[in-house]
Amino acid sequence: MNEWSRRDVLKVGMAATFGLGGGMVRLIPPRSFPAPGVTGRERLLLDFGWRFHLGHADDPSRDFGFGTDRQFAKVGEFFDPSRIDFDVSGWSSIDLPHDWAVELPFENAPDLTAHGSKPLGRAYPATSIGWYRRGFTIPAEDLGRRISIEFDGVFRDALVALNGHFLGRNLSGYAPFSHDITDLVNFGGPNTLVLRVDASENEGWFYEGAGIYRHVWLVKTHPVHVPQWGSYVTSEVAPGHALVTVRTELSNDSDQPQSATLTTMIWDDAHDRRAGISAPEVVRLPPWTRRTVSQTIGIAAPLLWSTESPHLYRAESRVSVGGAEADRYDTTFGIRSIRFDPDQGFFLNGKRVELKGTCNHQDHAGVGTALPDRIQSFRVESLKAMGSNAWRTAHNPPAPELLDACDRLGMLVLDETRMFSSNPEGLSQLERMIRRDRNHPSVFCWSIGNEEWAVQGNQTGARIGGSMRRLAHQLDPSRPVTAGMDSGYSAGLGLTLAVDVQGFNYQREDQDAFHRSFPTRPTMGTETASAYSTRGIYQADKDLGYVSAYDVNRPGYGATAEQWWSFYAARKFLAGGFVWTGFDYRGEPSPYEWPCISSHFGILDTCGFPKDTFGYYRAWWGDDPALYLFPHWNWPGREGEDIDVWCYSNLERVELLLNGRSLGVQTVVANSHLSWKVPYAPGVLEARGYRGEQLVATVQRQTTGAAAGIAASEFRWSPPPADFNIAADGEDVAIIEVRIVDADGWLVPTADHQVGFRVTGPGRLIGVGNGDPSSHESDKGNIRKAFNGLCMALVQSTREPGTIALELTAPGLLATVLEIRSRPANRRPAVD
Ligand code: GAL
Repeated sequence: MNEWSRRDVLKVGMAATFGLGGGMVRLIPPRSFPAPGVTGRERLLLDFGWRFHLGHADDPSRDFGFGTDRQFAKVGEFFDPSRIDFDVSGWSSIDLPHDWAVELPFENAPDLTAHGSKPLGRAYPATSIGWYRRGFTIPAEDLGRRISIEFDGVFRDALVALNGHFLGRNLSGYAPFSHDITDLVNFGGPNTLVLRVDASENEGWFYEGAGIYRHVWLVKTHPVHVPQWGSYVTSEVAPGHALVTVRTELSNDSDQPQSATLTTMIWDDAHDRRAGISAPEVVRLPPWTRRTVSQTIGIAAPLLWSTESPHLYRAESRVSVGGAEADRYDTTFGIRSIRFDPDQGFFLNGKRVELKGTCNHQDHAGVGTALPDRIQSFRVESLKAMGSNAWRTAHNPPAPELLDACDRLGMLVLDETRMFSSNPEGLSQLERMIRRDRNHPSVFCWSIGNEEWAVQGNQTGARIGGSMRRLAHQLDPSRPVTAGMDSGYSAGLGLTLAVDVQGFNYQREDQDAFHRSFPTRPTMGTETASAYSTRGIYQADKDLGYVSAYDVNRPGYGATAEQWWSFYAARKFLAGGFVWTGFDYRGEPSPYEWPCISSHFGILDTCGFPKDTFGYYRAWWGDDPALYLFPHWNWPGREGEDIDVWCYSNLERVELLLNGRSLGVQTVVANSHLSWKVPYAPGVLEARGYRGEQLVATVQRQTTGAAAGIAASEFRWSPPPADFNIAADGEDVAIIEVRIVDADGWLVPTADHQVGFRVTGPGRLIGVGNGDPSSHESDKGNIRKAFNGLCMALVQSTREPGTIALELTAPGLLATVLEIRSRPANRRPAVD
């Protein structure tokens, strides 16, 4: 494209006219292509500096005129807020990720209960539509490059416009989508991106949030480039050697034929060395075509990815045109082998690995569904610390950063699509998930659906599932397909026919009989337990919506932790299973509804504070000696009454003592718990765990004094680096655990003081929480009651390094100040 074509003049003129709002055409001088200095890829975070306003689902006058005008009649006038001179002064300034639902008040209405009691839906038109607007400039030098915008996830039904041009509509609240905006960009001038997001419809039966709750990216490339998700890496592992095959798509988005050279390098970044390189491959690309190139590279002595040692490699695809580099595209991957066996379960790198998994939704205290990346990692770290090795993304494709964390930390992933359908939308959602996620070594299996009651046991289910499985295997022959089925599998006639691995949700039908009837079919527990417990509560209270934290509560279809795990651990043919759920989540309050607004199914609460059942899993899933004792020992007024004392341990014997007096020794039975009835007397309750005659561990619970002060520290599962807490990149988050303590510093396990938070210095409070499933306090306020002694604050860095002071106060308690060090850090490349 050495000459400026008529089409390019029109293109620029058109964008400039609308973009500049007054018919003014700004011509940019023609220049040769590719322009020096602008080749290569840029991927810029487009999270900062957005404006937001609620619209209205029924009233166009409160919805920026949407629906009243001829928006689709002529191009260039789509959305009133697209106008360059549109007045945004009444709109709030926000950064992404953003969930407007979490900011809404809680409402007690039956139609909202399952979804977290936030007013979203057809009956709540004033709070169900959100408008987003972001202006940005594209330099004139970018003319000749391809420009696109990538959305990682918007909940939901998003209409997108650039410079008044309709780009498209994306229905799914979970599948990523992108738009090539090259034709519409105003090069050398302002551009305006506007989204109208309609969260009136639900896709699930749980809290789903609302808005642009994942990252957005502006991507610029040479016309000859690797398209989005255009690489696919697989490996064959042999002793001491691996063959890595990288299939790379190359696009020529230009009017000229191009000759490109592709060279792929494999990097072992942890050891700062190149592990392999392909021969250069010359590819002829006619105008506007895409070709796939397959290159196989031998890797000597590969470091395999496993849950204990999650080693990662990086494939770097270098594309050159006419001797100059046109693109460089990175793909993180791992070398590992997986297989299922119908009698022995799941194998990773040839070794049987029992899936010790949890299912999780994607919301967290303080932020709803808009999780900063750090919180994704924190959640994975928390479950790893419990001994869990697998995560099911129930019931939708996750944020990419969750998978990055699972790759990095060694957590297997069962990756699930949302829509069980072979219609174009269903297949497109599945395709987008697989193309995006198929290089993650953590992902070991695709789930195409969950409890599709209408069809899971019949021919329709088999046919839909068959179409989805066919697509999954086309896109990724390296992984099996499953579906979570809660019935309809015994006869083997429905969806069972279509999946590679039979997924059992609960134990409604006989799994032993299934294994006998279908001896060649691998199986796993895609969903188990659904046990409920409230952190720090030992007696149910229907009015407050609390249940006890002993492992005794379950719905009729479910099982306690001990019940399901004992069953699975005894059967090798079952590859393990996924507990419903790792974390409490908003919505689905069970067994009580309002005032409850979140579930109790979690092993950890919505903040990530462990409940007592965490001790069970740590004992039976973890590798280290474990000894855990509960409940707390503050029972004033109940002196002499029997208290149920439970202990979780993987040691051989445990002795319990109260105030130094032995209450007897019990022998541990695998996968179960120990219990005593102990007449209450204040003091010290102590458990001593033995292996043979050797005392291996002791743990104490002691009666505390009255609440006297507040203690706070960063909540991490791994020790924090010595010299800083967070990075000053405007994204990192310090997760602060706040404890109400007595004069000696012991956590007061029943304290419910209201804590006030004040941040000074280069940071901001982005959310608070306490894990109380019946709290109606705002996640976005600067006060929060402690719930059974604990609450949490999320403090985000700005781009200024320095010391952030978090001041914590509570009536009648000694105040405290926590210093959070925010160290200088490189920001990710971002749109200014
Ligand atoms: C399952 C379902 C989950 C959740 C759970 C609650 O049947 O798959 O999404 O609703 O029940 O027990």
